[in-house]
Amino acid sequence: MAILVTGGAGYIGSHTCVELLNEGYEIVVVDNFSNSSQEALRRVTEITGKSFKLYQLDLLDKEKLEAVFEENKIEAVIHFAGFKAVGESVELPLKYYQNNITGTIVLCELMKKYHVKNLVFSSSATVYGMTDHVPIREDAQLGAVNPYGRTKLMIEEILRDLHHSDQTWNIAILRYFNPIGAHASGRIGEDPTGIPNNLMPYISQVAVGKLERLTIHGNDYQTKDGTGIRDYIHIVDLALGHIKALEKIKRRSGGVDAYNLGTGKGYSVSEMVDAFEKASGKIISTTISRRRPGDAATCYANPTKAKEQLDWHAVRGIDEMCQDSWRWQQNNPTGYVKKVNKESRTPVQSNAAVFFNV
Ligand code: UFG
Repeated sequence: MAILVTGGAGYIGSHTCVELLNEGYEIVVVDNFSNSSQEALRRVTEITGKSFKLYQLDLLDKEKLEAVFEENKIEAVIHFAGFKAVGESVELPLKYYQNNITGTIVLCELMKKYHVKNLVFSSSATVYGMTDHVPIREDAQLGAVNPYGRTKLMIEEILRDLHHSDQTWNIAILRYFNPIGAHASGRIGEDPTGIPNNLMPYISQVAVGKLERLTIHGNDYQTKDGTGIRDYIHIVDLALGHIKALEKIKRRSGGVDAYNLGTGKGYSVSEMVDAFEKASGKIISTTISRRRPGDAATCYANPTKAKEQLDWHAVRGIDEMCQDSWRWQQNNPTGYVKKVNKESRTPVQSNAAVFFNV
Protein backbone atom coordinates (compact mmCIF):
# COMPACT_ATOMS: atom_id res chain seq x y z
CA MET A 1 0.00 0.00 0.00
CA ALA A 2 1.31 3.42 -0.93
CA ILE A 3 0.83 7.02 0.10
CA LEU A 4 -0.05 9.26 -2.84
CA VAL A 5 1.67 12.65 -2.53
CA THR A 6 0.27 15.38 -4.80
CA GLY A 7 2.65 18.27 -5.38
CA GLY A 8 5.47 16.13 -4.02
CA ALA A 9 8.20 18.06 -5.84
CA GLY A 10 7.44 21.35 -4.08
CA TYR A 11 9.16 22.79 -1.02
CA ILE A 12 6.96 21.18 1.62
CA GLY A 13 6.17 18.15 -0.56
CA SER A 14 9.79 17.16 -1.19
CA HIS A 15 10.73 17.39 2.50
CA THR A 16 7.66 15.32 3.40
CA CYS A 17 8.62 12.69 0.80
CA VAL A 18 12.02 12.36 2.50
CA GLU A 19 10.43 11.80 5.91
CA LEU A 20 7.85 9.35 4.53
CA LEU A 21 10.57 7.30 2.84
CA ASN A 22 12.72 7.44 5.98
CA GLU A 23 9.76 6.08 7.94
CA GLY A 24 9.49 3.16 5.52
CA TYR A 25 6.39 4.28 3.62
CA GLU A 26 6.00 3.46 -0.05
CA ILE A 27 5.14 6.66 -1.93
CA VAL A 28 3.73 7.58 -5.33
CA VAL A 29 4.27 11.21 -6.33
CA VAL A 30 2.20 13.24 -8.77
CA ASP A 31 3.30 16.71 -9.82
CA ASN A 32 2.85 18.89 -12.90
CA PHE A 33 6.10 20.82 -12.17
CA SER A 34 4.31 24.12 -12.77
CA ASN A 35 6.28 25.64 -9.91
CA SER A 36 8.78 22.93 -9.00
CA SER A 37 11.60 20.84 -10.38
CA GLN A 38 12.07 17.15 -11.06
CA GLU A 39 15.57 17.59 -9.72
CA ALA A 40 14.11 17.99 -6.21
CA LEU A 41 12.70 14.46 -6.46
CA ARG A 42 15.97 13.05 -7.77
CA ARG A 43 17.60 14.49 -4.67
CA VAL A 44 14.92 12.90 -2.48
CA THR A 45 16.14 9.50 -3.72
CA GLU A 46 19.73 10.61 -3.18
CA ILE A 47 19.07 11.62 0.46
CA THR A 48 16.99 8.59 1.39
CA GLY A 49 18.51 5.87 -0.79
CA LYS A 50 14.93 4.85 -1.63
CA SER A 51 13.10 4.60 -4.96
CA PHE A 52 9.57 5.68 -5.81
CA LYS A 53 7.22 6.26 -8.69
CA LEU A 54 6.46 9.68 -10.15
CA TYR A 55 3.62 10.67 -12.48
CA GLN A 56 3.96 14.01 -14.23
CA LEU A 57 0.36 15.12 -14.48
CA ASP A 58 -2.10 17.81 -13.60
CA LEU A 59 -4.85 17.07 -11.09
CA LEU A 60 -7.32 18.62 -13.52
CA ASP A 61 -6.57 15.75 -15.93
CA LYS A 62 -8.95 13.25 -14.39
CA GLU A 63 -8.18 10.46 -16.84
CA LYS A 64 -4.46 10.52 -16.11
CA LEU A 65 -5.04 10.83 -12.39
CA GLU A 66 -7.41 7.87 -12.49
CA ALA A 67 -4.65 5.74 -13.99
CA VAL A 68 -2.61 6.40 -10.84
CA PHE A 69 -5.39 4.95 -8.69
CA GLU A 70 -5.78 2.03 -11.13
CA GLU A 71 -2.08 1.19 -11.23
CA ASN A 72 -1.26 1.56 -7.53
CA LYS A 73 -2.73 0.45 -4.23
CA ILE A 74 -3.20 3.80 -2.52
CA GLU A 75 -4.05 3.80 1.19
CA ALA A 76 -3.92 7.55 1.86
CA VAL A 77 -3.30 10.85 0.11
CA ILE A 78 -1.24 13.83 1.24
CA HIS A 79 -2.46 16.70 -0.90
CA PHE A 80 -0.02 19.59 -1.42
CA ALA A 81 -0.65 20.43 -5.07
CA GLY A 82 -1.86 24.00 -5.51
CA PHE A 83 -0.90 27.53 -6.45
CA LYS A 84 0.26 29.63 -3.51
CA ALA A 85 1.27 33.15 -4.52
CA VAL A 86 -0.95 35.63 -2.72
CA GLY A 87 -0.30 38.55 -5.10
CA GLU A 88 -0.88 36.47 -8.22
CA SER A 89 -4.13 35.16 -6.75
CA VAL A 90 -5.41 38.73 -6.50
CA GLU A 91 -4.53 39.31 -10.18
CA LEU A 92 -5.76 35.94 -11.44
CA PRO A 93 -8.45 34.68 -9.07
CA LEU A 94 -10.05 32.31 -11.59
CA LYS A 95 -6.72 30.57 -12.16
CA TYR A 96 -6.50 29.95 -8.40
CA TYR A 97 -10.10 28.81 -7.95
CA GLN A 98 -9.92 26.55 -10.99
CA ASN A 99 -6.60 24.96 -10.10
CA ASN A 100 -6.80 24.66 -6.32
CA ILE A 101 -10.49 23.94 -5.86
CA THR A 102 -11.28 21.95 -9.01
CA GLY A 103 -8.04 20.00 -8.62
CA THR A 104 -9.05 19.01 -5.09
CA ILE A 105 -12.57 18.04 -6.16
CA VAL A 106 -11.22 15.81 -8.96
CA LEU A 107 -8.84 14.20 -6.48
CA CYS A 108 -11.59 13.57 -3.92
CA GLU A 109 -13.94 12.14 -6.57
CA LEU A 110 -11.31 9.58 -7.49
CA MET A 111 -10.49 8.86 -3.85
CA LYS A 112 -14.18 8.16 -3.31
CA LYS A 113 -14.40 5.94 -6.40
CA TYR A 114 -11.37 3.90 -5.31
CA HIS A 115 -12.43 3.79 -1.63
CA VAL A 116 -9.41 5.75 -0.45
CA LYS A 117 -10.75 7.85 2.39
CA ASN A 118 -7.63 8.91 4.28
CA LEU A 119 -6.56 12.45 3.42
CA VAL A 120 -4.04 14.92 4.83
CA PHE A 121 -4.66 18.38 3.39
CA SER A 122 -2.13 21.17 3.14
CA SER A 123 -3.90 24.25 4.48
CA SER A 124 -2.48 27.47 5.85
CA ALA A 125 -2.69 29.89 8.75
CA THR A 126 -3.91 32.29 6.10
CA VAL A 127 -7.43 30.94 6.83
CA TYR A 128 -7.35 32.96 10.08
CA GLY A 129 -7.27 36.20 8.07
CA MET A 130 -6.13 39.38 9.80
CA THR A 131 -6.70 38.31 13.39
CA ASP A 132 -4.49 39.85 16.04
CA HIS A 133 -5.78 37.51 18.76
CA VAL A 134 -2.67 35.46 19.41
CA PRO A 135 -1.72 32.71 20.00
CA ILE A 136 -4.20 31.44 17.42
CA ARG A 137 -6.20 28.32 18.26
CA GLU A 138 -7.89 26.13 15.67
CA ASP A 139 -11.33 27.28 16.81
CA ALA A 140 -10.50 30.96 16.14
CA GLN A 141 -12.74 32.80 13.72
CA LEU A 142 -11.90 32.04 10.07
CA GLY A 143 -11.87 34.52 7.22
CA ALA A 144 -9.31 34.67 4.46
CA VAL A 145 -8.44 38.03 2.91
CA ASN A 146 -7.30 37.09 -0.62
CA PRO A 147 -8.27 34.53 -3.30
CA TYR A 148 -5.38 32.20 -2.42
CA GLY A 149 -6.47 32.13 1.21
CA ARG A 150 -10.10 31.67 0.18
CA THR A 151 -9.18 28.60 -1.87
CA LYS A 152 -7.70 27.06 1.29
CA LEU A 153 -10.74 28.01 3.34
CA MET A 154 -13.19 26.76 0.71
CA ILE A 155 -11.35 23.45 0.40
CA GLU A 156 -11.48 23.04 4.18
CA GLU A 157 -15.26 23.53 3.98
CA ILE A 158 -15.58 21.11 1.05
CA LEU A 159 -13.70 18.50 3.08
CA ARG A 160 -15.99 19.03 6.07
CA ASP A 161 -19.02 18.59 3.82
CA LEU A 162 -17.50 15.46 2.37
CA HIS A 163 -17.00 13.99 5.81
CA HIS A 164 -20.52 15.03 6.79
CA SER A 165 -21.90 13.11 3.79
CA ASP A 166 -19.85 10.00 4.56
CA GLN A 167 -18.38 9.72 8.04
CA THR A 168 -15.90 7.04 7.07
CA TRP A 169 -13.63 9.74 5.62
CA ASN A 170 -10.56 10.42 7.79
CA ILE A 171 -9.29 13.91 7.12
CA ALA A 172 -6.54 15.95 8.77
CA ILE A 173 -6.33 19.61 7.77
CA LEU A 174 -2.89 21.03 8.55
CA ARG A 175 -2.67 24.80 8.92
CA TYR A 176 0.93 25.79 8.38
CA PHE A 177 2.42 28.92 9.87
CA ASN A 178 5.66 30.14 8.20
CA PRO A 179 7.81 27.24 6.97
CA ILE A 180 11.51 28.06 6.52
CA GLY A 181 14.82 26.20 6.63
CA ALA A 182 15.88 23.24 4.54
CA HIS A 183 16.96 19.63 4.85
CA ALA A 184 20.20 19.42 6.85
CA SER A 185 21.98 17.86 3.86
CA GLY A 186 21.65 21.17 1.99
CA ARG A 187 20.37 19.20 -1.04
CA ILE A 188 16.69 20.21 -0.98
CA GLY A 189 15.17 23.52 0.02
CA GLU A 190 12.91 26.35 -1.07
CA ASP A 191 13.40 27.37 -4.71
CA PRO A 192 11.09 30.29 -5.47
CA THR A 193 10.54 31.40 -9.06
CA GLY A 194 11.67 34.98 -9.71
CA ILE A 195 12.02 37.50 -6.90
CA PRO A 196 10.83 35.90 -3.65
CA ASN A 197 7.73 37.26 -1.94
CA ASN A 198 8.48 35.64 1.39
CA LEU A 199 10.90 36.87 4.00
CA MET A 200 13.34 33.99 4.39
CA PRO A 201 14.14 33.30 0.73
CA TYR A 202 14.50 37.05 0.25
CA ILE A 203 16.97 37.36 3.14
CA SER A 204 18.91 34.32 1.84
CA GLN A 205 19.23 35.83 -1.61
CA VAL A 206 20.50 39.10 -0.14
CA ALA A 207 23.07 37.12 1.89
CA VAL A 208 24.29 35.24 -1.18
CA GLY A 209 24.55 38.49 -3.19
CA LYS A 210 21.68 37.90 -5.63
CA LEU A 211 19.57 40.73 -4.24
CA GLU A 212 20.84 44.02 -2.95
CA ARG A 213 18.79 44.67 0.16
CA LEU A 214 15.76 43.52 2.07
CA THR A 215 12.80 45.87 2.20
CA ILE A 216 11.20 45.62 5.62
CA HIS A 217 7.48 46.15 5.10
CA GLY A 218 6.64 48.47 7.98
CA ASN A 219 8.32 49.28 11.29
CA ASP A 220 5.32 50.96 12.87
CA TYR A 221 3.36 47.92 14.04
CA GLN A 222 2.39 47.54 17.69
CA THR A 223 5.14 44.95 18.24
CA LYS A 224 8.35 44.83 20.30
CA ASP A 225 10.45 46.53 17.58
CA GLY A 226 7.71 47.74 15.22
CA THR A 227 8.23 45.01 12.60
CA GLY A 228 5.81 42.15 11.86
CA ILE A 229 5.86 39.02 13.98
CA ARG A 230 5.41 35.49 12.59
CA ASP A 231 5.67 31.90 13.73
CA TYR A 232 8.57 30.46 11.69
CA ILE A 233 8.72 26.68 11.66
CA HIS A 234 11.51 24.43 10.39
CA ILE A 235 10.45 22.62 7.23
CA VAL A 236 11.60 19.25 8.62
CA ASP A 237 9.46 19.69 11.73
CA LEU A 238 6.57 20.59 9.44
CA ALA A 239 7.18 17.49 7.29
CA LEU A 240 7.21 15.31 10.40
CA GLY A 241 3.83 16.77 11.36
CA HIS A 242 2.42 15.14 8.21
CA ILE A 243 3.69 11.72 9.29
CA LYS A 244 2.02 12.15 12.68
CA ALA A 245 -1.22 13.28 11.05
CA LEU A 246 -1.11 10.29 8.71
CA GLU A 247 -0.59 7.92 11.64
CA LYS A 248 -3.49 9.52 13.47
CA ILE A 249 -6.00 9.27 10.62
CA LYS A 250 -4.96 5.69 9.83
CA ARG A 251 -5.74 4.74 13.45
CA ARG A 252 -9.28 6.04 13.50
CA SER A 253 -12.44 5.20 11.63
CA GLY A 254 -13.72 8.60 10.57
CA GLY A 255 -13.36 12.26 11.40
CA VAL A 256 -12.21 15.64 10.17
CA ASP A 257 -9.91 17.83 12.23
CA ALA A 258 -7.77 20.91 11.70
CA TYR A 259 -4.36 21.28 13.36
CA ASN A 260 -2.01 24.23 13.62
CA LEU A 261 1.56 23.38 12.67
CA GLY A 262 3.61 26.11 14.25
CA THR A 263 6.08 26.51 17.11
CA GLY A 264 3.96 28.80 19.26
CA LYS A 265 6.77 31.41 19.27
CA GLY A 266 6.78 34.65 17.34
CA TYR A 267 9.85 36.38 15.88
CA SER A 268 9.92 39.84 14.34
CA VAL A 269 11.38 40.65 10.93
CA SER A 270 14.31 42.42 12.64
CA GLU A 271 14.97 39.39 14.84
CA MET A 272 14.98 37.16 11.77
CA VAL A 273 17.50 39.43 10.06
CA ASP A 274 19.74 39.28 13.15
CA ALA A 275 19.42 35.48 13.40
CA PHE A 276 20.28 35.07 9.73
CA GLU A 277 23.29 37.38 10.01
CA LYS A 278 24.53 35.27 12.91
CA ALA A 279 24.00 32.00 11.02
CA SER A 280 25.58 33.17 7.78
CA GLY A 281 28.23 35.62 8.93
CA LYS A 282 26.89 38.01 6.24
CA ILE A 283 25.50 41.50 6.64
CA ILE A 284 21.91 41.82 5.44
CA SER A 285 21.32 45.37 4.15
CA THR A 286 17.82 46.58 4.84
CA THR A 287 15.56 49.48 4.05
CA ILE A 288 12.18 50.32 5.56
CA SER A 289 9.05 50.77 3.45
CA ARG A 290 5.37 51.19 4.20
CA ARG A 291 3.31 48.26 5.45
CA ARG A 292 2.44 45.59 2.89
CA PRO A 293 -1.32 45.55 2.31
CA GLY A 294 -3.03 42.56 3.92
CA ASP A 295 -0.25 41.88 6.47
CA ALA A 296 -1.21 41.29 10.09
CA ALA A 297 1.06 42.73 12.79
CA THR A 298 1.40 39.48 14.70
CA CYS A 299 0.59 35.89 13.86
CA TYR A 300 1.63 32.84 15.84
CA ALA A 301 0.09 29.51 16.69
CA ASN A 302 -1.21 27.82 19.74
CA PRO A 303 0.13 24.36 18.76
CA THR A 304 -1.39 22.50 21.76
CA LYS A 305 -3.97 20.54 19.78
CA ALA A 306 -1.30 18.99 17.54
CA LYS A 307 0.77 18.15 20.62
CA GLU A 308 -2.15 16.52 22.40
CA GLN A 309 -3.83 14.74 19.49
CA LEU A 310 -0.98 14.07 17.06
CA ASP A 311 1.84 13.74 19.59
CA TRP A 312 3.77 16.26 17.50
CA HIS A 313 5.62 19.43 18.36
CA ALA A 314 8.32 21.45 16.65
CA VAL A 315 11.80 20.92 18.10
CA ARG A 316 14.11 22.88 15.80
CA GLY A 317 14.90 26.44 16.88
CA ILE A 318 15.46 29.64 14.99
CA ASP A 319 19.27 29.26 14.75
CA GLU A 320 18.94 25.82 13.14
CA MET A 321 16.29 27.18 10.75
CA CYS A 322 18.63 29.96 9.61
CA GLN A 323 21.70 27.71 9.39
CA ASP A 324 19.84 25.21 7.24
CA SER A 325 18.35 27.90 5.00
CA TRP A 326 21.81 29.34 4.55
CA ARG A 327 23.45 25.98 3.76
CA TRP A 328 20.81 25.33 1.08
CA GLN A 329 21.18 28.83 -0.40
CA GLN A 330 24.97 28.77 -0.34
CA ASN A 331 25.23 25.32 -1.93
CA ASN A 332 22.52 26.05 -4.51
CA PRO A 333 22.75 29.78 -5.30
CA THR A 334 20.54 29.36 -8.37
CA GLY A 335 18.24 26.78 -6.79
CA TYR A 336 17.67 23.51 -8.64
CA VAL A 337 18.96 23.12 -12.13
CA LYS A 338 15.59 23.15 -13.85
CA LYS A 339 16.07 19.87 -15.65
CA VAL A 340 17.49 16.52 -14.59
CA ASN A 341 21.25 16.67 -14.87
CA LYS A 342 22.58 14.53 -17.74
CA GLU A 343 25.15 12.83 -15.55
CA SER A 344 22.55 11.82 -13.01
CA ARG A 345 20.76 8.49 -13.29
CA THR A 346 18.12 8.92 -15.97
CA PRO A 347 14.62 8.06 -14.79
CA VAL A 348 13.18 4.99 -16.52
CA GLN A 349 9.97 5.54 -18.51
CA SER A 350 7.20 3.01 -17.91
CA ASN A 351 3.67 3.77 -19.09
CA ALA A 352 2.76 7.11 -17.58
CA ALA A 353 5.05 6.73 -14.59
CA VAL A 354 8.70 7.55 -14.11
CA PHE A 355 10.63 5.50 -11.60
CA PHE A 356 13.15 7.33 -9.51
CA ASN A 357 15.65 4.57 -8.93
CA VAL A 358 18.45 4.76 -6.44
N1 UFG B 1 8.44 40.77 4.99
C1 UFG B 1 9.25 41.86 4.79
N2 UFG B 1 9.91 41.96 3.60
C2 UFG B 1 9.81 41.02 2.62
C3 UFG B 1 8.97 39.90 2.83
C4 UFG B 1 8.29 39.81 4.02
O1 UFG B 1 9.37 42.71 5.65
O2 UFG B 1 10.44 41.18 1.56
C5 UFG B 1 7.74 40.63 6.27
C6 UFG B 1 6.23 40.65 6.16
O3 UFG B 1 5.73 41.96 6.16
C7 UFG B 1 5.82 39.81 7.36
C8 UFG B 1 6.97 38.80 7.51
O4 UFG B 1 8.07 39.37 6.81
O5 UFG B 1 5.80 40.61 8.52
C9 UFG B 1 6.66 37.45 6.89
O6 UFG B 1 6.24 37.62 5.56
P1 UFG B 1 6.15 36.38 4.52
O7 UFG B 1 5.77 36.95 3.20
O8 UFG B 1 7.38 35.58 4.59
O9 UFG B 1 4.99 35.48 5.13
P2 UFG B 1 3.46 35.85 5.46
O10 UFG B 1 3.29 35.64 6.93
O11 UFG B 1 3.04 37.12 4.90
O12 UFG B 1 2.70 34.72 4.61
C10 UFG B 1 3.03 33.36 4.76
C11 UFG B 1 2.78 32.66 3.43
C12 UFG B 1 1.34 32.65 3.07
C13 UFG B 1 0.56 32.07 4.19
C14 UFG B 1 0.86 32.78 5.49
C15 UFG B 1 0.20 32.06 6.62
O13 UFG B 1 3.49 33.31 2.39
O14 UFG B 1 1.14 31.84 1.93
O15 UFG B 1 2.25 32.79 5.75
O16 UFG B 1 0.24 32.78 7.78
F1 UFG B 1 -0.74 32.18 3.92
